[in-house]
Amino acid sequence: MSALRAPFPYFGGKRLAAQIIWERFGDPGGYVEPFCGSAAVLLNRPAFKGRRVETINDRDGWVANVWRAIKADPAGVAAECAGPLSEVDIHARMAWLNERRDGFVAWLEGDPEHYDAKAAAWWLTVASGSIGHPSEPGPWITRGGSLVSVPASSGVKRCFPALGSDRGVYANGRDVAAGMAALADRLSHVRITCGGWNMVVTPAALCARNGGDGSIAVLLDPPYEVGYDIYGSDGVGLSAAARDWCLRAPADMRIALCGYDSEHDELLAHGWTKVFGKAGSSGYGAGRASDRERIWFSPACLKPATQDSLFGDEAA
Ligand SMILES: C[S@@+](CC[C@H](N)C(=O)[O-])C[C@H]1O[C@@H](n2cnc3c(N)ncnc32)[C@H](O)[C@@H]1O
Repeated sequence: MSALRAPFPYFGGKRLAAQIIWERFGDPGGYVEPFCGSAAVLLNRPAFKGRRVETINDRDGWVANVWRAIKADPAGVAAECAGPLSEVDIHARMAWLNERRDGFVAWLEGDPEHYDAKAAAWWLTVASGSIGHPSEPGPWITRGGSLVSVPASSGVKRCFPALGSDRGVYANGRDVAAGMAALADRLSHVRITCGGWNMVVTPAALCARNGGDGSIAVLLDPPYEVGYDIYGSDGVGLSAAARDWCLRAPADMRIALCGYDSEHDELLAHGWTKVFGKAGSSGYGAGRASDRERIWFSPACLKPATQDSLFGDEAA
C-alpha cells in the first residue's frame, strides 16, 4: 500500500501533514475522518497488513459521491474524465451539477448503492480545471440550453480555467484509469458516510475497530474559525464544536485537531500538544495562510521518534 493522491485539489487538504499525523496515530484499529474532503490523510496512511476499520465522512454530497463512485465504478468515473481541460465544459458541467444540487444528498441517502459516476467525474473536472471552489453556488444555471445569471442583472459569475498548472485529473502524465483503480482498491474496505460530523463520532460509531494496536484515532479537520464559509454557509461554530468534543472525548483516544494559530490553545491546559502543520498544495497550503496551520494532538497520541523537518513542536 503506497501513498495515493486524491484526484482533485482541495482547499485545506492535509497531504503534507499526513506524515506527522501518522507518526502520532501509529496503527489504530479504528480510524475516523469526520471532515474528510480529499481524504488526503487516509490516502497517505502507512502500509499495514490485514484489515482495519476506517470511516470517512463529509457533509458535502458531491464529495461523498466522488468517493462512493470511485469505489464502486472506477472505470466509469475515469471514462467520464477523459480528455484535456475545456473551459466551456467546465461552465456547462458546473451548471449541470448546480441544477442537481438540491436533493442530491437525499438521493444518495435513499439507497446505499446510489452513486452517480458521471456527476463524480464532472465534479472532478470542475474541481481540477477551475480556479475557485466547486461548492460555490453560482449563479450557474441554464435556461433554454444557455448559461444565464441569477438574478439576470448580476451577470454570470465566471470561474477561471486553471491553465497555470495541471492538477487533479488533469495532472501531467497521470494515468487516470490506473489512478482510479488504485483508489478503488484502497477504498474497498473503507466506510463512506455523508452527513454532519457528529454522526461518526458517537460512542457507538467509534467503538468499531479491527487489528492494528487496537486504538481508535480521529482526525478532525473542520472548516476553521476563519474561512469556514468556503465550504458552505453552515460552517460557523464548527471549529469550536469540534474543540468541545475533544475536551469530552475518552482519554485513550488519539485525536488530531487542525486549525489556525491559537484557535485551539485551550486544549494545551488539558495535556494536548501543538505542532506547526502544513496543508496541501492548493488553497490554504499555497499561500501565506499555510504558515498559520497548526495541529493539536491529544495526550494519548504517540510521541514521534524523529522530528519531521516541516514541523516543530511549538508547545508541549
Ligand atoms: C478543511 S476541509 C477538510 C480537508 C481534508 N482534511 C483534506 O485533506 O482534504 C473541511 C471539510 O469539512 C466539510 N464539512 C463542512 N461542514 C461539515 C459538517 N457539518 N459535517 C461534516 N463535514 C463538513 C467540508 O465539506 C470540507 O470538505
